[in-house]
This record gives sequence, C-alpha cells and structure tokens, in this order.
Amino acid sequence: MDRNSRKIVIAIDGHSSCGKSTFAKAIAARLGYIFIDTGAMYRSVTLYALENGGIVGGIVDEDAIVALLDQIDITFRFNPARGASDIYVNGEYVEGKIRTIEVSNFVSAVSSIAAVRTKLVAMQQQLGRQRGVVMDGRDIGTVVFPDAELKIFMTADAKVRAERRFAELKAKGDDVCFEEILENVIARDKADSNRAISPLRKADDAIVLDNSFMTVEQQMEWFDAQLDRVLSL
Ligand code: DC
Repeated sequence: MDRNSRKIVIAIDGHSSCGKSTFAKAIAARLGYIFIDTGAMYRSVTLYALENGGIVGGIVDEDAIVALLDQIDITFRFNPARGASDIYVNGEYVEGKIRTIEVSNFVSAVSSIAAVRTKLVAMQQQLGRQRGVVMDGRDIGTVVFPDAELKIFMTADAKVRAERRFAELKAKGDDVCFEEILENVIARDKADSNRAISPLRKADDAIVLDNSFMTVEQQMEWFDAQLDRVLSL
C-alpha cells in the first residue's frame, strides 16, 4: 500500500534516553506526520511545579501539584529550524529549561501522580485524533493509543544511554557528571517501570528495537521494513 494513502498512529515507548525522540522525529519528517514528545509534557508540568511551589526543598507536594494543574496551559508550535514542535507553558518557550538534570530528577515522581496523567493523556489523545502522528513516551501503545497500528518498544544498554545523554548535555555547555546521569537513567527506568499507574511496559503487540549499537540510518532501515509490513496487512 502507498505510504501516503493511509494515515496511522505510530506509538514509540521505551526506556529513558535511548533516542526515542530522535527516532520519532526522523520518522515523522519522512512521512509528513506530526511528532509529539509526551515526555516534554511531563517535564513541563515538573518545571512548573518547581517554579510555583509544587516541589520545595526537594519534596514533591502532590496536593500542591494537583492544585496547580488548572493553571498549566501546554501548547506546541512548529519550529522549522528544528523540524519539530517546541513546547510552551502559558506562552513561555521552555524547551531549554525542561531538559536540565533538576527536572529529570523530579519528573518520574510528578508523572506518577494520577491527575497529572489524566490531564496529559486526554491532551495527547486529542492531538492524535486525526492520526498521522508519531508519539513517543512510556504508555502510548498501552494507554494513550492502544489501537495504534504500529507500536515500537525502544531500549538500549543503560551505559550507552547515559553516554549519549552526557554528550548531549556537554555539547549544550552544561556542567554535568557522568555518574550522576547514569544514576538518573537507572533510577528513572526503575521508577517508570514500577509505578502504580500506567507503568512502562511493552505492549503485547509492540516490536522491540534495541538500538545500543545501531546508527540512526540503520534504525531507519529497520523502521521502513516494519512500516511496509504494517501497511501490507
Ligand atoms: O521521554 P523523557 O525522558 O523526556 O520523559 C521524562 C519522564 O516523563 C519519564 O521519566 C517518565 C515520564 N513520562 C511518562 O510517564 N509517560 C510518558 N508518556 C512520557 C514520559
């Protein structure tokens, strides 16, 4: 079947820092689909909580965060230079601020709050309602779009993932410590997989992509074969 004749939902779930967004962005560009980074949405709520009394002195105040939720307006605006949408909170551009290690350290706790998930899942379902979307996260194939036509579960060796994150933050000029990043990667895997609501798990009908030793080009070749298989069904 012609790739352009039927728009589908492509759900990409998996562990932290294994290149889900890079992969999802490349696929979306190839197919002319919308790319939604749902981790950026959980990060944005975490940032807002840090800046507005929802997390104080390292303590996550669940009730305070739930009370703040109605004040948080998340929007995406396409940025042609990046070939993807940038995220805004109440009109403020927050792409840079949401990727810090501070936000990374609290985002698993914030994303385990039921009311936070309810709000963001509803928004994600709305964003993908017309299909033609590539969405990456932890629960896309299991909860947000259980009917997605193509589900991919991405993973990579924890050390390889920490090395990639380290290089990325260093390139941005951040003063980062490799051990701290590795600890964060391992801690987030554990928290994301063991939380009570919508834990990270492979959907039964997802296909696994371990990209520890794959280039982006090799991942694209693998993806093309998977897409052809799904479209021929
Ligand atoms: O993809 P990321 O590392 O930017 O995501 C940040 C955190 O957000 C991740 O540790 C868990 C949470 N998350 C989630 O719970 N559900 C999603 N769909 C996406 C992210």
